[in-house]
Amino acid sequence: MHNKVTKAIFPVAGLGTRFLPATKSIPKEIMTLVDRPLIQYAIDEARAAGIKEFIFVTSRGKGALEDYFDNAPQLEAELRKKGKNDLLDLLKSTNMESGAIAYMRQHKPLGLGHAVWCARRLIANDEPFAVILPDDVIASETPCLQQMVEAYEEVGGNMVAAMEVPKDRIKAYGVLDLEEDMGALVKVRGMVEKPEPEAAPSNLAVIGRYILTPGVLQNLSKMKSGSGGEIQLTDAIAEEIAQERGVYGYRFRGQRFDCGSKSGYLQATVAFALARDELRADLMGYLKELISVEKAAQ
Ligand code: G1P
Repeated sequence: MHNKVTKAIFPVAGLGTRFLPATKSIPKEIMTLVDRPLIQYAIDEARAAGIKEFIFVTSRGKGALEDYFDNAPQLEAELRKKGKNDLLDLLKSTNMESGAIAYMRQHKPLGLGHAVWCARRLIANDEPFAVILPDDVIASETPCLQQMVEAYEEVGGNMVAAMEVPKDRIKAYGVLDLEEDMGALVKVRGMVEKPEPEAAPSNLAVIGRYILTPGVLQNLSKMKSGSGGEIQLTDAIAEEIAQERGVYGYRFRGQRFDCGSKSGYLQATVAFALARDELRADLMGYLKELISVEKAAQ
């Protein structure tokens, strides 16, 4: 039996410069896909996977995130008075239990690995934990982290979500070197952060979902700088390959959107809107019209 995964770390300290000027005053994680903030998708996915404690690694200017997870008694009272029960239920479904969320500040932007390390005191010595990067939004029938928790219960160790990406995009990712390919699961023998395409050991990239052992936090405390001069989570996980239980990649089922880029964010917006009964027909009509105008102009 492997210890249950009940804590997740959400690194949300990034400046979100790709979404300026919006991110001058709102954290990127509060930006919405249709009407739900990016962070809400990450929380819902974590909850579905059995996560009970949520650790946010934040930075200056992220106050709106803390407010978002506060209860909203005035708003609730107003909706109750007006008999808007659907909205009331919707609001309540986003409420978090008191004490379930912890906020840690990352005081300097030293990299993803450093952000995760900032949460080290909240993770016990023998406790596996999840890391979720809210920029990576994954639409799937079974939420991605839940798929990983199920696989983790079989094999233990450290696990990263993995996806094949085109060669010309590989430089944006952590990349896996495979020891053994077992289908959904792969056993990893090396990991490289943001390699040049010629140097990439495969086209299997790390996507922002991880189940990690506390050993990774110890590795991070060495503060070794890696790709881009930053302290990389990929490097600290790679150090665990030599350990008994090792590192696995998990090819998840689902569609991943890179909401850290404008194009990925827009695609996710369209996909999530089309998945909503009340929006589908209108939006589809509009898209068809656009495409036919585009075709006629060619
Ligand atoms: C981070 C990780 C990288 C991973 C990627 C997935 O990179 O460092 O290994 O492949 O997330 O989205 P970032 O996108 O923060 O540069």
